[in-house]
Amino acid sequence: KVTSNITINGKAFPRDSWFNVPDKVLAHTSRKLHLQKDHPISITRQILESKFPGPTYHYHNDFDPVVSTYENFDSLGFPPDHPGRARSDTYYINKDTLLRTHTSAHEAQLFGARASPGYLVSADVYRRDEVDRSHYPVFHQMEGARVWDRATVPNGDIAAAVYADLAKLPTHDIEVEDPHPPFHAERNPLQTDHHSAAEAEAIAAHLKRSLELMVVEVFSRAQAAARLQDPDFVDEPLRVRWVEAYFPFTSPSWELEVYYAGDWLEVLGCGVSKQELHINAGAPSQLGWAFGIGLDRIAMLLFQIPDIRLFWSSDARFLDQFAGVSGDLSKLKLFVPFSRHPSCYKDVSFWLPSTSSAAGGNDMAVRGQNFHENDVMEIIREVAGDTVEDVTLADQYSHPTTGRKSMCYRISYRSLERTLTNKETNDMHLRVKALLAARLGVMIR
Ligand code: PHE
Repeated sequence: KVTSNITINGKAFPRDSWFNVPDKVLAHTSRKLHLQKDHPISITRQILESKFPGPTYHYHNDFDPVVSTYENFDSLGFPPDHPGRARSDTYYINKDTLLRTHTSAHEAQLFGARASPGYLVSADVYRRDEVDRSHYPVFHQMEGARVWDRATVPNGDIAAAVYADLAKLPTHDIEVEDPHPPFHAERNPLQTDHHSAAEAEAIAAHLKRSLELMVVEVFSRAQAAARLQDPDFVDEPLRVRWVEAYFPFTSPSWELEVYYAGDWLEVLGCGVSKQELHINAGAPSQLGWAFGIGLDRIAMLLFQIPDIRLFWSSDARFLDQFAGVSGDLSKLKLFVPFSRHPSCYKDVSFWLPSTSSAAGGNDMAVRGQNFHENDVMEIIREVAGDTVEDVTLADQYSHPTTGRKSMCYRISYRSLERTLTNKETNDMHLRVKALLAARLGVMIR
């Protein structure tokens, strides 16, 4: 049932009972931080793009965030019951239309367009999620893909063509660990109906070198900037490792982890594209690889930005620090925090409705509907906006005789721009409590 239209970037979409996008999230759909001159997200995009040059790679940086449920999930082989489709995790305009949760939503369209052997898509993506300094309902991804066409490579020999292209790529001298066998019988089988093991291995080799070169570029820039500014920075040699992963639209699949500043960081997902995507896109003779990388985390690392909310700030003390870097990437320098304002944390405890029964994980059946922790997160964001820094489940408890369940969340309020008054924080917290009770039917303790 259509309730009313909603306009996003100048286009009207009908809403129905699936609609779950708060105004504060909608307002971000026009920001396009990945295109804002001298914004750290945009600078990061440019650094990554420099490792995938034209004319082989075409860049697409202006795709609308509203896509169909089909493009975001079905076209990529997500099963109908995949948890990512839930309204607790994804922002829907209506049952068939949503805010993309990843840039892979554009794969089918681009594989069909056959405009170039490779492409990059950078864009804002949207997910309902927890609240802390590295999670925000809007973030950015870059997707990349490279294809070869059996119909046009010499002698139809894909492996030879791929190795010839691999030989043209630069080399690097970092240590790469790649301990897992390339195929896994259940999760990452060879696509035997469509290509040989030798072909898949050639594509994987090209994929891995391309992405290793990309992370070497980013992390050596991060090290150089850190070294310049911080005499105590320990400049360890870069190490990367390939870890087996699962995605519904690639096989085999990997994640790339980078050892940086004492930790293994997961930086991207990738794999050999499932042939069904090319077939469904009307390009059955085409095969290749795809990857997806989150830009916000990379930018935080590159510039040592401590809080993801800063990207959305219009405070000149933040933005001015990156002026001129777009035009000259050698000007890259670390973010210098401006005054850090005090945080104020407050707890909220509530009983779930007595009809609730724990259904595992964060899901509990509430009034016959699914209640999810993300709903708590969203209500707090709705009230506090960018002045909520972190929300954690501090405690949970089941009453020994009634079995009723009680939750306690700890909310940390902190503005990036100024010191909050006690009254402001108290007022916000009261509104959070009232809204939790009204929307979720919980009983505040
Ligand atoms: N879209 C995936 C994600 O958001 C990443 C990915 C892209 C994985 C392309 C494989 C290929 O996690």
